[in-house]
Amino acid sequence: MADKIYDLTLNFWNSAVIRAGVKLNLFNLLEKHAFSATEVSQHIKANNPRFIQAFLDACAILGLLEKEGDEFTNSALSNEFLIPHQPKYLGDYVCHITNYWYTWGKLDTLLLEGRTELPFENDFTDAPTYWTDYMKAQHNRAMMGQGEKLVENVDLKGKQKLLDLGGGTGSYSIALCAANPQLKSVVIDQTEPLDIARKIVAEHDLTDRITLLEGDFNTIELDSDYDAVLISGVIVLLSEEENRHVFLRAYNALLPGGLIIVQDFMRIDHKPTRQFLDTMMDLYLLVGFNPNAGDRSGDEVASWLKGTGFVNVKQIPLPTQLALVIAEKPAK
Ligand SMILES: C[S@@+](CC[C@H](N)C(=O)[O-])C[C@H]1O[C@@H](n2cnc3c(N)ncnc32)[C@H](O)[C@@H]1O
Repeated sequence: MADKIYDLTLNFWNSAVIRAGVKLNLFNLLEKHAFSATEVSQHIKANNPRFIQAFLDACAILGLLEKEGDEFTNSALSNEFLIPHQPKYLGDYVCHITNYWYTWGKLDTLLLEGRTELPFENDFTDAPTYWTDYMKAQHNRAMMGQGEKLVENVDLKGKQKLLDLGGGTGSYSIALCAANPQLKSVVIDQTEPLDIARKIVAEHDLTDRITLLEGDFNTIELDSDYDAVLISGVIVLLSEEENRHVFLRAYNALLPGGLIIVQDFMRIDHKPTRQFLDTMMDLYLLVGFNPNAGDRSGDEVASWLKGTGFVNVKQIPLPTQLALVIAEKPAK
């Protein structure tokens, strides 16, 4: 029984080690070469090889590196997920989640005060780093299979015009436009995410089909001829009232028969692995994003959509982190 307590207590060491590996670009260095601790120290300009030796041993014990004799090289796991520009890269996600180090570190205080604290508010990172890691982490998730699952589960055949509210780096507009050659998308978000989106959309050669519009999705003037509206990673950040307001805006932006797609952390299936993620996510959203945030249940999202006037509401659990609720505006 005590082992469980030891595990729970020591787990944050693991997060620190993987974070340091990513921040020090260790996995790029050891992708194709095997180096000793002294050689790694020279490459990363570390003062004391003894520290690096201990760190590399820690990486090896966690399965991030392999050790042969005195030399270290990446494990298959690191080669697949921790090398930038690999399709399944998760390094930005590692940075984003662990940017909340000080926030989690003062959880007891934040719980008593009922307060949220972002990483740039307690100086763990500066605001530009926070935004970049946050947005690229969302993109990592999309590339890891969430984009593919969205495409598989949403039929946009014949649909011309998509509105992507709070679209971030545009990852899901990219996935949907790539899969539906007739589709164009308008992504609405704030300055910082759109700066990153601009580069990613250009990398995918979709600049002519994806328009990036800077603005507040609560107030910006919207066209009313959209065939589909995507709201991904947004509803967890808003209160019920704010969500109902955004759903109404989406309803008014849609043509009759148009589709709303809500993609987010939502309790739809109740498998034990999901229960862990959804339960911890609820706490993380509160202390790390805003006091109105929270992991939602599929049923409550479905009821907000019905209350707005949407019909044919479907809850779709996915094997990826985010689930789907889709619905239609009634055809006239
Ligand atoms: C978790 S991210 C999700 C990004 C993207 N849709 C995805 O699923 O990867 C939430 C996004 O909503 C944007 N956002 C939140 N409130 C907003 C508002 N009032 N107006 C425009 N964008 C907003 C944030 O800037 C951020 O990019």
